[in-house]
Formats: sequence, C-alpha cells, structure tokens
Amino acid sequence: MKTHFVAPSILSADFGNLERDIRMINESEADWIHCDIMDGIFVPNITFGFQVLRTVKKIAKKPLDVHLMIERPERFISEFRAAGADILTVHVEACVHLERTMTQIREAGMMAGVAINPGTPVSSISEVIEIADLVLVMSVNPGFGGQKFIQTAYRKIQEVKELARTSGTDTLVEVDGGVDSTKAMKLIQAGADVLVAGNSVFSSPDPKAIISVLKKAKADVRSV
Ligand code: DX5
Ligand code: ZN
Repeated sequence: MKTHFVAPSILSADFGNLERDIRMINESEADWIHCDIMDGIFVPNITFGFQVLRTVKKIAKKPLDVHLMIERPERFISEFRAAGADILTVHVEACVHLERTMTQIREAGMMAGVAINPGTPVSSISEVIEIADLVLVMSVNPGFGGQKFIQTAYRKIQEVKELARTSGTDTLVEVDGGVDSTKAMKLIQAGADVLVAGNSVFSSPDPKAIISVLKKAKADVRSV
C-alpha cells in the first residue's frame, strides 16, 4: 500500500523558539517542512521571507515545502530556490502565466506545485496537470492557521486524483488547512498523498506524537 507524507506547517510554530521546533520536526516522523509565505495582498496576512527561510534551511534535515500565497510569484522563483525551497507551490489565482511559472520552477530544480482555493474549481488546473508534481487543495481560505476545515475538500481531492489518473501523471495531492488526526483517514481514503498540519501539531503538548498519529493513519480498506 502506498504511504502518505506528513508536512507540519511552521506557521503555528513558536517563532521565539523556531530552532527548537524545527529540530522537533527533524526528529519526528514528518516527511517535509511546510513553510507558508504570505504577502498581505493575495491573503490578508504577512508571514516571513527569505531570511527566515534560509535560517530554517540551515537547521532542517527534511525538504522544505514552500507554499507561496503571494501575487505574481514568478518574480521570486530563483530567490526561493536559493533560500532553500525543494518544493515550490504557487496559487492558480495568483498567476497569469501559470504554465510558464511552473515550468520555470521545475527548470530551477524544484518540484512544481499548484494550489487551489476552496472557491476555485479543479478544472482550473486541468491544463497544467502534466507539469504539476503536486496539487495543493486548500481546505480553508488561506491566510491563517487554526481555521475550520471546509468539507468540500474531500470531493476536490478525489477530483484531482481522477484528473491525474486520466492524464497519466503521478502528481501528488496535498491537503492544507484544518487537518487533524480525526480527518487523516478519510483524507487518505479520498486520495491525499500529503497532509499539512499546523495548529493540530503545534497546539499539542506532544507535537511529535501527533505527527506520528498522522503518519500512521491508513485508508479504511473495508470501504475501498
Ligand atoms: C493557511 C496555510 C496553512 C496553515 C495550516 O493559509 O496555508 O498551511 O499553516 O494550518 P492549520 O493546520 O492550523 O489549518
Ligand atoms: Zn500552507
């Protein structure tokens, strides 16, 4: 059976103790480190930029999964590569020339991801599925950690999986927003390959244990 990835989002980490929290992820069963970059324009919040990302990279022993919630992300592809991104995801809603941007991400040596907001249909990415290493299905409206999971994400994950299957690609499907251990099994069942989790990991007194629970979640074979 295929195994899924777990990517804790450092948006909910303690930035006064960021090194400690990244070392925790290093020692955990997590696969990637999810880094949320916000510009205050595409989303109503601002997070961090290259300097913090470079610092994270120095400490991290796992690939950096960088989720850009910024307008016109094509302006900074080489800078994000230089700062340590391994996977670079842009929003379809923020890119005029999406195909070119994703091709440039791949040419820069990163996995190219495309994200869709809850209000954006899966059909919006059908023309780029063949060059998408990853599709990120947002299960909250982006901007903040700790929001409530939007249920339509299950169906959208299934739709992306089906699009990838009919296109003959092995695109990974990532789900981001409001993910916790109570939803992991159903998300994997729907076809999620990567679970992002911020609040549910970092609000726990034992974040490593939550990561382990998310990693051990399995699809329910009885309902396959
Ligand atoms: C939201 C970010 C998410 C966020 C998820 O805009 O893209 O990655 O950190 O956090 P939780 O798991 O708390 O919803
Ligand atoms: Zn994210």
